[in-house]
Amino acid sequence: MPANYVALAYLGAAILFILALKGLSSPVSARRGNMLGMAGMAIAVLTTLTVTHNIAAILLAILVGGNIGWFIARRIQMTAMPELVAAMHSLVGLAAVLIAMSAFNNPVAYGIARAGEALHASNRIELFIGTFIGAITFTGSIIAFGKLSGKLGSKPLSFKGQHWLNLALGVVMIGFGVAFCLVPSWTPFLIMTAIALALGILLIMPIGGADMPVVVSMLNSYSGWAAAGIGFTLNNNMLIIAGSLVGSSGAILSYIMCKAMNRAFFNVILGGFGGEAAAADLGDGVQKTYRSGSAEDAAFLMGNADSVIIVPGYGLAVARAQHAINEMSKLLTEKGVKVRYAIHPVAGRMPGHMNVLLAEAEVPYEQVVEMDEINNEFADTDVVLVIGANDVVNPAAKNDKSSPIYGMPILEAHKARTVLVVKRSMATGYAGLDNELFYMDKTMMVFGDAKKVVEDIIKSIA
Ligand code: TAP
Repeated sequence: MPANYVALAYLGAAILFILALKGLSSPVSARRGNMLGMAGMAIAVLTTLTVTHNIAAILLAILVGGNIGWFIARRIQMTAMPELVAAMHSLVGLAAVLIAMSAFNNPVAYGIARAGEALHASNRIELFIGTFIGAITFTGSIIAFGKLSGKLGSKPLSFKGQHWLNLALGVVMIGFGVAFCLVPSWTPFLIMTAIALALGILLIMPIGGADMPVVVSMLNSYSGWAAAGIGFTLNNNMLIIAGSLVGSSGAILSYIMCKAMNRAFFNVILGGFGGEAAAADLGDGVQKTYRSGSAEDAAFLMGNADSVIIVPGYGLAVARAQHAINEMSKLLTEKGVKVRYAIHPVAGRMPGHMNVLLAEAEVPYEQVVEMDEINNEFADTDVVLVIGANDVVNPAAKNDKSSPIYGMPILEAHKARTVLVVKRSMATGYAGLDNELFYMDKTMMVFGDAKKVVEDIIKSIA
């Protein structure tokens, strides 16, 4: 395809990507956003195929990679999505490193140097930046995958002098990168890459489970920048644009999540949150009492209420109770109860997790209300049904200065007249903290699997 047509097709794809991001900003337009993104990607891939030489090898790679992706995506549980995303980011990081190595090995084949000529300094800088971001993304994402999938344990793993070690390694790595930019040779390149790989591990290891959402979106951002880096190496504008969009949207998402958790971005990156608190809270030795009731009790309370707010959390996703909860809401609405869902930005295990689940169950969008909008309404609400959620309704975030989640915005479920909490036990949530809400006089615990409990509630209401 002639170069100007390629440029035009890439421009069209870039516009579709931007429209896709815009669409994804609201659940109402998210499906359309996804479609536009898919169309943009199809145009980008097809256009790239027309300008590549080794089409057979690329088609083979698409066939193998596509099948593996298809197989994994079909089998993956919604709750395991964050770790899958982390695993995918690691591949982007690895691709960036391998392409940079291959380009440095044979710059003529990549069209970034003429035969017999040395690699231009600007290309060396691109290779250096792309490689170190890619290497940090690669190992950092593997550690994030290990933590999110429970293979590594989500507690922060820190040691004395860690930040100084990271700083020193960062400086040495940049030193070797600069050396590579000055004199292109494999030794500084490989040492720089090895240090970046180690840094990826050291940076993510000390970050506790409660901060993992930010880490995943931060790595998402890194993987975008790494892809943009590859775009420069390959002289491919499409990759530069798509990588920059991923890089900047991931960075914005990290910022939004830090705000939602009231955490300073640098505190998150410097790590160490969530571990000690778990031990302190669980070990206080005080026997606290709580009230528990049955699904029938819960049905009675909600059926006689004027207003009910449902607070979904990770447990709802694990139990796959979204369809049942929608059916329950419909029954309550038919009885004249005003039902709404309150969404905390970090409820579940990935950004937008609850919105996706509720949309899947076709819960009407107007019933789904974000935290800032609904928090004022809890005090005027008869019953709050907290289902499979824990940290996002922990009042310690508001009134216990010693709590590690102090300052994190929460859904103020504790202000409602009656609180129902559906979970299987008194166990802690992801941050490993006990929750005062469960011990309040107005709270009734309903123990059991979320889906089973909701099905029993439905039987009692119907
Ligand atoms: P959590 O605080 O993790 O609480 C979920 C609760 O669900 C648990 O206490 C668990 O109690 C219960 N549960 C688990 N399986 C259940 C089932 N089958 N039926 C009924 N209940 C079940 O979840 P949350 O309130 O949604 O808060 C999210 C937490 O995850 C935050 O700490 C957040 O920082 C973190 N996080 C969020 C993200 C994003 S971006 N959303 C990503 C990673 C981490 P039992 O074991 O007693 O049943």
